[in-house]
Amino acid sequence: MDLMAFGELEKLKQEINFHNYRYHVLDAPVISDVEYDRLVARLKQIEAEHPEWITPDSPTQRVGGVVSEKFAKVRHPAPVLSLANCFGVDDLKSWVERIAKMDERVRGADFVVEPKIDGLTVVLTYRDGLFVQGATRGDGEVGEDITPNLRTIRALPLRLPVDPQGLRPPALLVVRGEAFMMNKEFDALNKRLEEAGERTYLNPRNTAAGSLRQLDTGLTATRPLTLFTYAIVAADGPVPTTQWGQLQFLKALGLPVSPDVEHFSDLEGVLGAVEDWRERRDRLPYEADGIVIKLNDLDLAAELGFVGKDPRGAMAFKFPAREVTTRLADIGVNVGRTGVLTPYAMLDPVEIGGVIVKQATLHNFDYIAEKDIRIGDRVLVKRAGEVIPYVIGPVAELRTGEERVFEPPQNCPVCGQPVEHLEGEVPWYCVNLACPEQLVRNLEHFVSRGTMDIVGLGIKIVVQLVEAGLVKSPVDLYKLTKEDLLKLEGFAEKKAENLLQSIDASKAQPLARLISALGIHQVGEVLAADLARYFTDLDSLARATEEDLQMIENVGPNTAKSIVDWFARPGNREILAGFKAVGLWPVSRPASAEGESGAKTLDGLVFVVTGTLPSFSREGIKEFLQGQGAKVTDSVSKKTDYLVAGEAAGSKLDKARQLGVPVLDEAALMALIEERKQI
Ligand code: IVH
Repeated sequence: MDLMAFGELEKLKQEINFHNYRYHVLDAPVISDVEYDRLVARLKQIEAEHPEWITPDSPTQRVGGVVSEKFAKVRHPAPVLSLANCFGVDDLKSWVERIAKMDERVRGADFVVEPKIDGLTVVLTYRDGLFVQGATRGDGEVGEDITPNLRTIRALPLRLPVDPQGLRPPALLVVRGEAFMMNKEFDALNKRLEEAGERTYLNPRNTAAGSLRQLDTGLTATRPLTLFTYAIVAADGPVPTTQWGQLQFLKALGLPVSPDVEHFSDLEGVLGAVEDWRERRDRLPYEADGIVIKLNDLDLAAELGFVGKDPRGAMAFKFPAREVTTRLADIGVNVGRTGVLTPYAMLDPVEIGGVIVKQATLHNFDYIAEKDIRIGDRVLVKRAGEVIPYVIGPVAELRTGEERVFEPPQNCPVCGQPVEHLEGEVPWYCVNLACPEQLVRNLEHFVSRGTMDIVGLGIKIVVQLVEAGLVKSPVDLYKLTKEDLLKLEGFAEKKAENLLQSIDASKAQPLARLISALGIHQVGEVLAADLARYFTDLDSLARATEEDLQMIENVGPNTAKSIVDWFARPGNREILAGFKAVGLWPVSRPASAEGESGAKTLDGLVFVVTGTLPSFSREGIKEFLQGQGAKVTDSVSKKTDYLVAGEAAGSKLDKARQLGVPVLDEAALMALIEERKQI
């Protein structure tokens, strides 16, 4: 036998098991992942050369074990008991009172408080420190052998003690614990499943239970399960006789123990802890459905005996349930102040954590589709801490076939105008400037400093105007009279006059500001200024196609669609007509077309225009070219530098070709301007 290699193998196994423990139990690794991987690689190499040396406690043996077709039955060495529940402080006090009447020692007793982990109970058997068997609780007498699945849990030591300096375990040690999944790992797993297009899990508990009862341990190994132990079921040597002592003992052997366990010298302390846990629960990185309160003196607890299968010496204090199932009666849609359409669940009323819940959020339309939530489904609803109740997902197994797939609405449920949904974006929007749901917010934006800058028209007055029914769209601002304003609280003659004056003054704002004031999705101040440079007025902008718009720098397909969509809404078109009627109709003076030298981009060039252009009126293009410094004449001659030709161009086009005058369409014209700007 190659003693050197054998010695190295033994050392490697111990080292790797130790680092596993540091990482998965203590959450405090002392070597890097790379170093760890190197140790494992070396171990695998030695084992490949000497397969006869592979032992069950080798860290390489965590995956690959085979579970028999049906799980074998395992008889537990001692009954794996259950727990009585209580739901309030009074219940808890009367439990202590009850057992104190049976045994006076309870009055001076100390207690241990532990989180009640919401996972799957497991019973682990160690012989001479070696993990030999793991089973489910089953009926408390007989469970199922899931040893190979449990071996995949990295927090579970394959050999005790993990730290060579640790305590020696008794020759037989049977411990009880809970296998579960950290919330973070659960979320990550669901994300992975979602990306792979697979069905996601509803909660960490179901996931843990399902994963451990997999026949394919390769699959169990991909589920990030972990473990906490909290009791000794059987031992053939001396073990501590207090609960607190046993927890310390388990920890010293290298078994994982919850860091959230506490020891209290009296009932007062326990009651304080119960209070603390109301909030503390929300900060736990794993799910707990309550806390367990245990008499610390285990001999005393044993003497008190049982009620059925429940020991008298311990009590579960259940937190109010945060997840329940109920029927999804229908799906409604809200419109927020930003125009975002948000679906919500209309539920058959159900109590969650002491509150009757009738509605829950469904986040967005993509969420409904991804989770395949259907109207009529039984759904799992969660209410945690401060969070608004939300639908986790359907319980698809309970479908009757009567369920209906939900279709997102094509029109805003408030104003009835068509909604907008941009490719690749999650939200659906109502983009109607006058949508009652968004009116206050849209007006606020419209009058604000960076847009129409109507001095003296703050949010309070906006709300007053809307509430009085005086303003139903921004156009109405320009129709206000002194009489209207005097009806409002806080308005006297002078204030009314001043406001009317500043509203009127805003008509002189340049086109860029009006475009920005419209609140078109993805069109901020900068882009509004760009648009005002290309288009002479709102009519010419309204005529632009997505293609036209995309020729402008910084305008991508989504922005172009957003602009076109906005102008396509009948309600918005009405507003434009209204602006024109009240004299709010700025025409752009493209001052910013000046190059750095101060010279204009088309300075000295002679242009002729013919035909219909996509985004300019006849007058508009003339003004635009002049704004760029060009001279615009009516007929083509040798002096003409460029002919700008649109659709249905006639004789001027022929003439230009004859004379060799370059012909530009709108796109080419814009390109020319861009090019000359660079000079
Ligand atoms: S003590 C006699 N402690 O809760 C001892 N149980 O309703 C009885 N559980 O499925 C169990 N965390 O597995 C105890 N810290 C904890 C626990 C805990 C979770 C589970 C237990 C059982 C259920 C009892």
